[in-house]
Amino acid sequence: MRAGGEVPGFAEFFAGIGLVREAIEPLGWNCRFANDIAPAKAAMYAARFGREHLLVGDVNDVTLADLPDGLDLLTASFPCIDLSLAGNRNGLAGPHSGAIWPFLDLVGEMGRSRAAPAALLLENVTGLLTSEGGRDLRAICERAGALGYLLDLVVVDARWFTPQSRPRLFAVAVRRELLEGAGRAFPPTGEVTPLRPANVRRFQREHADLPLVETPLPPPPRGSRATLASILEDAPADGAPWWPRERVEALIAGMAPAHRERVDALLAGERDGVATMFRRVRAGRTVGEVRGDRLAGCLRTPHGGSSVQFLVDCRDGSARIRPLSAREYARLQGAPRFPIETGTRQAWLGFGDAVCVPAVRWLVDRALGFLLCESANAATGAQARMHDREAAYAASD
Ligand SMILES: C[S@@+](CC[C@H](N)C(=O)[O-])C[C@H]1O[C@@H](n2cnc3c(N)ncnc32)[C@H](O)[C@@H]1O
Repeated sequence: MRAGGEVPGFAEFFAGIGLVREAIEPLGWNCRFANDIAPAKAAMYAARFGREHLLVGDVNDVTLADLPDGLDLLTASFPCIDLSLAGNRNGLAGPHSGAIWPFLDLVGEMGRSRAAPAALLLENVTGLLTSEGGRDLRAICERAGALGYLLDLVVVDARWFTPQSRPRLFAVAVRRELLEGAGRAFPPTGEVTPLRPANVRRFQREHADLPLVETPLPPPPRGSRATLASILEDAPADGAPWWPRERVEALIAGMAPAHRERVDALLAGERDGVATMFRRVRAGRTVGEVRGDRLAGCLRTPHGGSSVQFLVDCRDGSARIRPLSAREYARLQGAPRFPIETGTRQAWLGFGDAVCVPAVRWLVDRALGFLLCESANAATGAQARMHDREAAYAASD
């Protein structure tokens, strides 16, 4: 894509601990800039990648002068606090999720004063599809469209890659001339598929005037080979982090019948004898709610006590409960060897807010890999390299 075989560069906005970088650098994208406002997350980022390209601060204060040349891709896994069902639903007028606007302002400035990036990758919760009745996502698509991009909206779920339920909405925006030139811009078909489920199709139907396209993507993997049991660490037999027996018994006794039955099923050896659990306040009481499948629930940031995810472990014939460990969070986000040099709570926060590495890698490879190929001949070589990479990922899983 770039002249003289130069390696394509990307900037990671809302970088958090850097799991977008973790996902796409092995594909051949070179990180030239990263920004996040949170110093504690930046410390986790730096422990993995160093500080060379990292600017810690508010995106509202980032200027064009801060950005290096040679940025072909800008990623924005922007805050979901104002959009998620668990959050306040203030939408893009909220103080957190509204940080997408200064990001898009920077994209516009780049286009006016130097080369516009070839592509943008936006990521958020699927609640963005319906936030403010769809008006929030509409406003983003309008702005990106006015800047010269066509957008493909897809939902990618972490469960296809790791044992975690985590559906996320991605808007893959590519400059119109590049996508059309590559013959990859098609009108949305309306067919409901795992990548483009009913909520995406509804949005596309209701906003048919937006510059929305459907690009050729293969079907995603059917599901992760890893099970919840396979990502668990060996915890000490007794004592912390396990809850005391009386606390476990009291919580199970207070569960709704459906959840107690799930614990009974684990004790009977179903689902490898393990499941994850959240605590929730129902009718003024804290109760435990156990998942009924082999997946962890969506990891979250532990701002409130109810967002820590627990393990219910019945493998030794009695129920035991402990929080999932920081390393287990990392494994569920597909970053099994990411350095963890912080306390557990900060690690929960960093990983809980992050993206799932193989999910982003899969999407960027399939949706933006064509930008890495300079010609049709190069595409053949790139495809061969992609298969080598797939083999390498499978071996490292
Ligand atoms: C959903 S998280 C992104 C996580 C990241 N993709 C990762 O893998 O760790 C959103 C990030 O936006 C950052 N953020 C929120 N408001 C910001 C602002 N005004 N300027 C810069 N970063 C901001 C948060 O600190 C948080 O790390």
